[in-house]
Amino acid sequence: MVRERVRRRSCAQPFVRDTPGERRTGKGTTAVSENRPSEGQPIPGPDVAHNARVWNHWLGGKDNYPIDRKVGDHVTSMFPSIGEVARADREFLGRAVRFLAGEAGMDQFLDIGTGLPTADNTHEVAQRVNPAARIVYVDNDPLVLAHARALLTSTPEGATDYIHADAHHPDAIVRDAKATLDFDRPVAVMLLGSLNFILDTDTAVDIVGRLMAAVPSGSHLVITHPTTELGGEGNVEAMRFWNENATPPITARGLAEFTRFFTGLDLLDPGIVSCARWRATSVDGRLPPIVPQFGAVARKP
Ligand SMILES: C[S@@+](CC[C@H](N)C(=O)[O-])C[C@H]1O[C@@H](n2cnc3c(N)ncnc32)[C@H](O)[C@@H]1O
Repeated sequence: MVRERVRRRSCAQPFVRDTPGERRTGKGTTAVSENRPSEGQPIPGPDVAHNARVWNHWLGGKDNYPIDRKVGDHVTSMFPSIGEVARADREFLGRAVRFLAGEAGMDQFLDIGTGLPTADNTHEVAQRVNPAARIVYVDNDPLVLAHARALLTSTPEGATDYIHADAHHPDAIVRDAKATLDFDRPVAVMLLGSLNFILDTDTAVDIVGRLMAAVPSGSHLVITHPTTELGGEGNVEAMRFWNENATPPITARGLAEFTRFFTGLDLLDPGIVSCARWRATSVDGRLPPIVPQFGAVARKP
């Protein structure tokens, strides 16, 4: 099992990337665990389209290669609303985190499957509402680790931490996140667009169950997930193309499977909906178009 942590406690402290195996403590702490996930996991090169970079392309970012744009554009030709899905997912993140940091009073966030830094990352949204919010990011992608510096710009009152780890190891994630988050107090667990890379549903449900077992009553669970429902029939062929031409492989889930992630939790209004419609406001009397990506927020009773 492998993981690595890069932590910035506040913007007043200098960022230091440790060399593998080195461990530092005290001010400006940056820690790298004894077991290092980057070993044997080179940053994906320019020859293979890669999820974090293609997602970045769909969001209009610049951190991608020609192969990512080529594959991403081909997926768009098969499934034209994919760019809308990516944008709706990020807008959902903004609304959900604003609600959690504000009305729901959450000041601790565990964001698993962070993605490449973009506009309005979780800590930026949360700390605008509550500057003392503490956020731990987790991703297993060496490319995201390489860009983690941009995620570590905490307010002085709050904290951000980055753990390079795989969602298949929730117990290790919780153990390492305890360096920044207090698991005796409620935590918002976020899995946006990442459970779709855990191909086996029982495994994905077990991961979510373990994470939610580690947090107390009053914690929240936030998930977005692609589906072939909600008008996402075009997803089937596009995902097949993706799995033959890009990495890592992906799967969609139906409502019945998606609902399993929330077993034992109280779904908050409006329940499970297209992420575009979760507490969305209408513009000129019109709500945003539905996209084939489920979104939901639930509270642990
Ligand atoms: C589609 S991006 C979503 C990024 C962000 N959460 C968002 O909603 O915009 C999915 C992210 O999940 C990460 N991911 C995929 N499988 C993972 C795993 N097994 N463990 C940790 N992260 C994973 C990928 O590396 C990628 O950065």
